[in-house]
Amino acid sequence: MTLKLVAPYYCVLRDDVTSTNDVAKELAANGSPSGLWVLANSQSQGRGRRGRLWVSDRGNFFASLYLQMDEKPEDWSQLSFVTALAVCEALREISPNPNDITLKWPNDVLYGGKKIAGLLLESSQQSKTQKGEVIIGIGINLAHSPDDAPYETTSFLRENSHIILPSSFLPILVKHFDHYFRLWRSEGFNGIRKAWINRAFNLWKKVTVNLFDESFEGVFIGLSDVGGARIQMPDGAERHILAGDIFPINEKE
Ligand code: BTN
Repeated sequence: MTLKLVAPYYCVLRDDVTSTNDVAKELAANGSPSGLWVLANSQSQGRGRRGRLWVSDRGNFFASLYLQMDEKPEDWSQLSFVTALAVCEALREISPNPNDITLKWPNDVLYGGKKIAGLLLESSQQSKTQKGEVIIGIGINLAHSPDDAPYETTSFLRENSHIILPSSFLPILVKHFDHYFRLWRSEGFNGIRKAWINRAFNLWKKVTVNLFDESFEGVFIGLSDVGGARIQMPDGAERHILAGDIFPINEKE
């Protein structure tokens, strides 16, 4: 089977892989051009953020996009916002309850406040003179969701009582990715930041912020101009968080 994607994107379909990020990296190293999507039916070593395992049984969506970058490396992490927006809009397009689908910093997609999708961005640059490479891995709970995750999860099937196949979902996702990626390339992060904020779940809510070495409470008030979480502290001061997790007060973890 081949899937038709909007140019310049193209797709390689695999059955069971270790991780679609690894397959995309391997194909890129062997000369596959930028714009490659790898879509797999299952993964034996799916990776999540913070070194977590991403349970990857058949029926859910596991894909990775390989891009060669012209932009400077410090901007590449903004692609996780570009991609999260694309996933959010693609799910909204096929859902009868689009307003239930929102975004949680840094790059989770939620359905009814529960996690339905996550992203893992990995990048490398061999030398200053060579173009850098970014691999964006996307996992979406289309058919089922883990019940032992340290946060609440759901699936598209559970929320809508109907199934969508990963191979039917990919062209929809690529169409939305193409839109937001072009916006980012032409206008920079500002347009993406506004679109992301428009879909934000936790905005103006009290949250717990978990960093690697500390945890504190504050109010999530938006995104900084480089994609950090802006947290208003109880004394009115503002902190910008570049890496970590935020949870509504009372949620697990
Ligand atoms: C997260 O922890 O929220 C990120 C999960 C990312 C999972 C996807 S599934 C496709 C790609 N391959 C992987 O090994 N991980 C990503």
